[in-house]
Amino acid sequence: MSRLVAISNRVPPVSGKKLAAGGLAAALEGALQIHGGLWFGWSGQVAGNSSGVVSFHERPSYTIATVDLSQEDVDEYYDGFANRTLWPLCHYRVNLVDYDRGFGVGYNRVNRLFAKAIYPLLEPDDLIWVHDYHLIPCGAELQRLGAKQRMGFFLHIPWPPAELIATLPENRALVRSLFAYDVVGFQTDGDVRAFLEYVLQEGGGHIEPDGRVTCFGRTIQIKSFPVGIDVQAIGNAAVKAEAHTHTARMLESLSGRRLIIGVDRLDYSKGIDRRFRAYGKLIERHPEHRAKVSMLQIAPPSRITVSAYKTLRRQLEREMGRVNGAFADYDWVPLRYVNRTYNHTALAALFRVAAVGLVTPLRDGMNLVAKEYVAAQNPADPGVLILSRFAGAARQMRDALIVNPYDEDSMVEALNRALSMPLEERQSRWRSLMDGLARENIGWWRDAFLATLAGAA
Ligand code: G6P
Repeated sequence: MSRLVAISNRVPPVSGKKLAAGGLAAALEGALQIHGGLWFGWSGQVAGNSSGVVSFHERPSYTIATVDLSQEDVDEYYDGFANRTLWPLCHYRVNLVDYDRGFGVGYNRVNRLFAKAIYPLLEPDDLIWVHDYHLIPCGAELQRLGAKQRMGFFLHIPWPPAELIATLPENRALVRSLFAYDVVGFQTDGDVRAFLEYVLQEGGGHIEPDGRVTCFGRTIQIKSFPVGIDVQAIGNAAVKAEAHTHTARMLESLSGRRLIIGVDRLDYSKGIDRRFRAYGKLIERHPEHRAKVSMLQIAPPSRITVSAYKTLRRQLEREMGRVNGAFADYDWVPLRYVNRTYNHTALAALFRVAAVGLVTPLRDGMNLVAKEYVAAQNPADPGVLILSRFAGAARQMRDALIVNPYDEDSMVEALNRALSMPLEERQSRWRSLMDGLARENIGWWRDAFLATLAGAA
């Protein structure tokens, strides 16, 4: 079996108990735990200068290799091009896109730095798998250094429509660099269609009779591979969690009330403000739920130096204040809002206790919280998942209550319906959601991508 070399900006923290945030880390951690190999990325540390010196950290089933970045790298590459430019663009928030030529220069410089650090570590038969929007040109940089290995790229976030990506000054160079890979994977067929729209219309590419795509002088495979989860591990954690102190503390604090839970990185793409408003409207319009429910929103902050995230944080504090100011009683806090990070066991415990999982992003590549919430439920008394139609997961999880997060009234109706849903309907929806999760799980995702890559010419 070829060795897997995964490359991503974010790797799990190599020391301490802190968890890496976000879906990419969860998915890759699952894939590498089963497959083994090397996982290369940014250490998360800021050094005086980016020397490209690699540090190695052994994990039981794989090795993590990291480099530090300089402050300039972080400003231009991570905060800049990745999170001020590409992130909002890919999440359809053109009004939040901040573009500066320096960001593009820093982005390419760090991609080159990554390639130079990884290249000497490669073995001839490796399968190289590059992840996410931070590292689109990394494959082309590796090739420039002489890498001949098969290389795949997977985008964890949405790919925007052709006209949106065209607003980016370097759009052509960025798409061209994706054609250095042998396989380019997206989360959904919708992302594949949007990418092909650009390639065919703007890039002058064409589709071959065998389905591969030719553009910029290269013929590659472009496919969707929706990321899954380790259903078994989460189910086990949730069962164990029943005896956990988090479960006991949560149940005690609920005093018999039903729990609605949301867990998201503090990000404007997650639609948390609209979710708070919808919950406020539920309590206003349906007095029967007053003092009978409690909502917990867990939202660990990330990218805190980017101004859109600072603004969002203030806005959410205001929205929370409004809901609690209007409805709280001396013995009931309707909305609990927490900016801490919790580990998998604690989250599984909270998911299992919650009667409703509320996952309502305005745009999301996949959203693994939706999947984890379902996997953590008690089969005898499962909760209900409310899911935005704009999360990639909605294409697979048809038995969730699907909502349009821009329509707060539809979220109010879904919340009311979820809270009154009979046990039988909850069980049958849950069973069908679980069948899908078990079929298209994390191993399926990894194997499907790697088999396509291994088979690529
Ligand atoms: C999303 C992205 C990941 C990223 C994660 C956390 O899931 O797809 O690439 O790692 O968010 O964001 P952060 O900026 O903290 O790495």
